[in-house]
Amino acid sequence: MTDGAIVIGASSGIGEALTRTLAAEGYEVGLASRRVERLKSIGADLPTKAYVAYMDLTEAERAREAFVELADAMGSVDLVVISSGVGHLNRDLEWEPECETIDVNVRGFTAIATAALEHFEASGTDGHLVGISSVAAVFGNGGAPAYNASKAFVSTYLEGLRHRQAGREANVTITTVEPGFVDTEMAMGSFWMCSPETAARQILRAVERDRRHVYVTRRWRLVAWLLKAAPEPALRRLFARV
Ligand SMILES: NC(=O)c1ccc[n+]([C@@H]2O[C@H](COP(=O)([O-])OP(=O)(O)OC[C@H]3O[C@@H](n4cnc5c(N)ncnc54)[C@H](OP(=O)(O)O)[C@@H]3O)[C@@H](O)[C@H]2O)c1
Repeated sequence: MTDGAIVIGASSGIGEALTRTLAAEGYEVGLASRRVERLKSIGADLPTKAYVAYMDLTEAERAREAFVELADAMGSVDLVVISSGVGHLNRDLEWEPECETIDVNVRGFTAIATAALEHFEASGTDGHLVGISSVAAVFGNGGAPAYNASKAFVSTYLEGLRHRQAGREANVTITTVEPGFVDTEMAMGSFWMCSPETAARQILRAVERDRRHVYVTRRWRLVAWLLKAAPEPALRRLFARV
């Protein structure tokens, strides 16, 4: 049977590149996000069968229903990637961007992560859940407080799911991806930036190797380590002007 993957946030950036990479590897792909016309055009370009679903993660209940409908339509889903995310520089602490970030990156993310595990456990097949977090997860950021906090949630939530999974029968692998800067509309910097295609290749390799955690690119491990080790006053000085 052909492998099936669902990519949430397949309409641009890392999600689009990963969708194309997975299809090139023979996966049938379910593409989900709000920009359905873009999803249809990407899907039409793939060498394998594509399924398209409208999904707005700010409507968590409806998004879960859309996930179930998409998985049912595909028949076989081995891999679910949650790439959707929003990030705003918001030093003025305007409520709307903070709220959207939490709705999409925390509530919406959790809605689909739980739906994916329910799907794998109910179908009794091996499964793989990949969450796109960020190196931003490892430090508080005065320029984008909700974004970094939301990514800390994503990384810690996925770690919790791995611990939970260890005591269960279903064979589900959970991979946390923490990119540095990737050349997409969301990039908040250009230092050590990689292309979405490079990110996609490295994520696919992590999936093939059943990795629990990867930095994209690998050198970002060093930055994450330094940020984790640095005392808070040093970070405050470093990010005072960001
Ligand atoms: N680029 C970077 O430097 C970088 C670094 C670290 C981590 N990341 C993470 O990588 C992931 C992908 O981002 P990207 O860089 O590829 O940026 P992007 O091109 O802006 O992609 C963002 C994706 O999120 C989807 N999305 C946004 N709001 C949504 C909503 N309400 N419901 C459903 N989907 C929604 C978008 O689809 P629609 O607009 O069609 O809904 C789009 O597919 C994000 O989680 C981001 O935090 C990026």
